[in-house]
Amino acid sequence: MAVERTFSILKPDATARNVTGAINAMIEQAGLRIIAQKRIRMSRPEAEAFYAVHRERPFFGELVEFMTSGPVVVQVLEGDHAIAKYREIMGATDPAKAAEGTIRKLHAQSVGENSVHGSDAADTAAKEIAQFFSGNEIVG
Ligand code: RTP
Ligand code: MG
Repeated sequence: MAVERTFSILKPDATARNVTGAINAMIEQAGLRIIAQKRIRMSRPEAEAFYAVHRERPFFGELVEFMTSGPVVVQVLEGDHAIAKYREIMGATDPAKAAEGTIRKLHAQSVGENSVHGSDAADTAAKEIAQFFSGNEIVG
């Protein structure tokens, strides 16, 4: 067992369509445990900091607009190889390319409004978790 933690966001399109419970069920079905969770409204500086790596990309402005457009649910997920496992069940960034049975295939609207975020590596997971949670909010 290689128990890891990853950072997850249920994005504004998911909260708007009231599918956060349906997505959480898929997360738990995959064997991942939600060990921290809160519903927040991301501020513009928070979203800009979170997606700083994409600052030069053409979709950056649109992405920040979207992520601040409504409530999101931020989460810490824990489990065996949690980082790769969550990426697998999320599916491809573009829902049109996402595999059958994945969260994005089932719930995402478009490449931008794609329902979920998941960390892509151990170092980014640790950094992203620390941006939104203090240690005593995470109960594994
Ligand atoms: P995420 O970071 O949200 O888990 O998604 P990802 O790794 O699959 O995708 P990434 O390349 O990191 O892009 C971050 C988010 O930016 C939005 N995006 N829009 N309009 C576009 O072409 C475009 N490309 C990416 C998506 O919301 C994507 O999840
Ligand atoms: Mg990414």
